[in-house]
Amino acid sequence: MTTAPLSTPSWTHAETYVAEDEALAAGRARAEEVGVTAIGQGGGAALSFVASVLEARAVVEIGTGTGVSGLWLLRGMRPDGVLTTVDVEAEHQRLARETFTEAGFAPSRARTIAGAALDVLPRLTDGHYDLVFADGDKVEYAAYLTEALRLLRPGGVLAFDNALWHDRVADPSQRDPETQAVRDLLAEVAAHDDLVPLLLPVGDGLLLAKKVWLP
Ligand SMILES: C[S@@+](CC[C@H](N)C(=O)[O-])C[C@H]1O[C@@H](n2cnc3c(N)ncnc32)[C@H](O)[C@@H]1O
Repeated sequence: MTTAPLSTPSWTHAETYVAEDEALAAGRARAEEVGVTAIGQGGGAALSFVASVLEARAVVEIGTGTGVSGLWLLRGMRPDGVLTTVDVEAEHQRLARETFTEAGFAPSRARTIAGAALDVLPRLTDGHYDLVFADGDKVEYAAYLTEALRLLRPGGVLAFDNALWHDRVADPSQRDPETQAVRDLLAEVAAHDDLVPLLLPVGDGLLLAKKVWLP
């Protein structure tokens, strides 16, 4: 016998269990102003938790937006940790810096790099990062996985937002490029010998995977 599925009120209760404060609300308001979809509350809390468990000192984020996910990450990281965050839109990053500053983080805690992810990521150091969080162009998710595997230290964790992509991933009739790219990513991560995967049904879905320690 399997456990019965939870009702929608229970999902909502879980999603909002870890509260957001004014600084996160301000980041969300900036996101709305410029038409960016920020990570959901439950996904943000999960990122903060993972960064905290890892005692993360070095994190890469792909898709800064206006800093909502970045702020959740910074709050989980070590006090001397640095978030390296990449976005193709310099204006989004300007707003993200406002979000971080308003929340009390020194500018040195966030290294914002403006540029296309697949141009910037190859310049970052191999095996240096505790956590890589991807929330950029869904069609590029397979390429972000390749980069994340190179960037992560053994024992590090990768995270991809929108892993259920608006309920489309689980619906076989949906064949658009973004949905297919997310589906392909899920299959590749699940089958990867060097990864321990977990698909969390928070927000729009958060795929996590730990890069195993080598023998
Ligand atoms: C969903 S939003 C990120 C939201 C942010 N992670 C948050 O939760 O607050 C996606 C961001 O990725 C950026 N983006 C899209 N394609 C990109 C690419 N190829 N390289 C870098 N950034 C990209 C967009 O400009 C946008 O700011």
